[in-house]
Amino acid sequence: MQGNRFFCSVFLLILLAFRHGIAHGDGGFVTTNGTGFVVNGRPFYANGFNAYWLMDMASEPAGRSKVSSAFQQASSHGMTVVRTWAFSDGGHQALQRSPGSYDDDMFEGLDFVISEARKYGVYLILSLVNNHEDYGGKKQYVQWARDMGQAAGSDDDFFWNDVVKTFYRSHVKTILTRNNTMTGIVYRDDPTIFAWELMNEPRCQSDLSGRILQAWITEMAAYVKSIDSRHLLEVGTEGFYGDSISERKQFNPGGYEAGTDFIANNEIPEIDFATIHAYPDQWIPGSSELAQLVFLQRWMQSHIGDADAVLRKPLVITEFGKSSRLSGYTVCKRDAMYRTVYSAIHASASSGGPCRGGLFWQLLAQGMDGFRDGYEIIFSESPLIENIISRHSRRISSLINTPYIKDGNISFRNDSKGAVSSSK
Ligand SMILES: *[C@@H]1O[C@H](CO)[C@@H](O)[C@H](O)[C@H]1NC(C)=O
Ligand SMILES: *[C@@H]1O[C@H](CO)[C@@H](O)[C@H](O)[C@H]1NC(C)=O
Ligand SMILES: *[C@@H]1O[C@H](CO)[C@@H](O)[C@H](O)[C@H]1NC(C)=O
Ligand SMILES: *[C@@H]1O[C@H](CO)[C@@H](O)[C@H](O)[C@H]1NC(C)=O
Repeated sequence: MQGNRFFCSVFLLILLAFRHGIAHGDGGFVTTNGTGFVVNGRPFYANGFNAYWLMDMASEPAGRSKVSSAFQQASSHGMTVVRTWAFSDGGHQALQRSPGSYDDDMFEGLDFVISEARKYGVYLILSLVNNHEDYGGKKQYVQWARDMGQAAGSDDDFFWNDVVKTFYRSHVKTILTRNNTMTGIVYRDDPTIFAWELMNEPRCQSDLSGRILQAWITEMAAYVKSIDSRHLLEVGTEGFYGDSISERKQFNPGGYEAGTDFIANNEIPEIDFATIHAYPDQWIPGSSELAQLVFLQRWMQSHIGDADAVLRKPLVITEFGKSSRLSGYTVCKRDAMYRTVYSAIHASASSGGPCRGGLFWQLLAQGMDGFRDGYEIIFSESPLIENIISRHSRRISSLINTPYIKDGNISFRNDSKGAVSSSK
């Protein structure tokens, strides 16, 4: 019996390693199933954080331990997904120095990020360009076109100028077909990648009808899928409603419009799941804490409802957080915000609803003071938030059929005979 138990334990460890790490190499692509995610025949929840800085830090040998530390922390806190940038266009620390010209150290940094994620059994969302000017973004793309004699006007020309679109498509192709120098796996074949993201927080303020952005998403989503039909794809929008169901605009902060349309953008067939961001402290500045929490609840519930009833796709809250640099901040208020987001996710996921995860903004490793933006979480500095995050991870992972050993046998929590019990 003891021997039997020993072998079962070894088998269980192998099984766990298989599920959490090596499983990536065995066709463990995450797919959607209705409004849920599935991997290796089991439900999958996208529970984790943002760390845009990973490639940047990994491009220099001295920074690599920070990257490993981030994935180690994700893994040890039961998190499954990290979202990061697969772009850095022009300027300092450029991945793409000029259209089509790439920096080897930066690309090897990105290779390292993917290989570390794989090692720790964590999945990645890789975003392909920025709407904002940090790390280049649409502004840099449009400037490149101007430098080549294009008469580009505003940065929103990014979404329709043919030369700029050619630059973007070329970047997409370069990333998706990159052969990772550390793993020997081409990015598009690597199940470590949970999803591609077309753009971080696209907005097209110069066309509030939403038509220009809709056309861009439609074209680029088809382009991504023409190169890589196995990975999931999402747009990267914050979730502002537009004209397709105009009553929903009441849920936008202060009636804000951004040329995006949560419904229409995510209805595009090549888009596999919907995303929202949630920053009540920035979006309704000067409002009371209660007003912010009420807004947050309504914001999440309206999108969860639409993902369920209109889109029939999963929804992930790909960014949320609270800044210590905005007025009225206290640690308690931040913690309350995290609890509010997590309880909405848990309520939806545990009842089979479409909200399948959330990623806080942002995790920093120790010793990265230059990256602080007020939203940072550094586990060693805040045991309380670490607790809230860990507790959420445990509640989410208990929704999955986690194998455990009972009397020498491997059991699943969904077994009729297997009451939930601790593993041996
Ligand atoms: C996919 O969804 C269907 C319908 O909800 C469900 O019966 C099935 O178990 C799901 N498959 C997986 C692998 O979760
Ligand atoms: C990627 O690189 C590895 C290692 O150099 C090589 O074995 C593999 O064939 C390459 N893959 C492709 C698709 O070129
Ligand atoms: C463990 O498996 C053995 C052999 O299949 C079975 O006889 C025994 O009842 C199982 N024990 C439990 C607790 O399920
Ligand atoms: C419990 O989950 C396991 C693993 O997904 C599956 O193989 C098994 O069929 C499930 N059992 C029941 C009773 O649903």
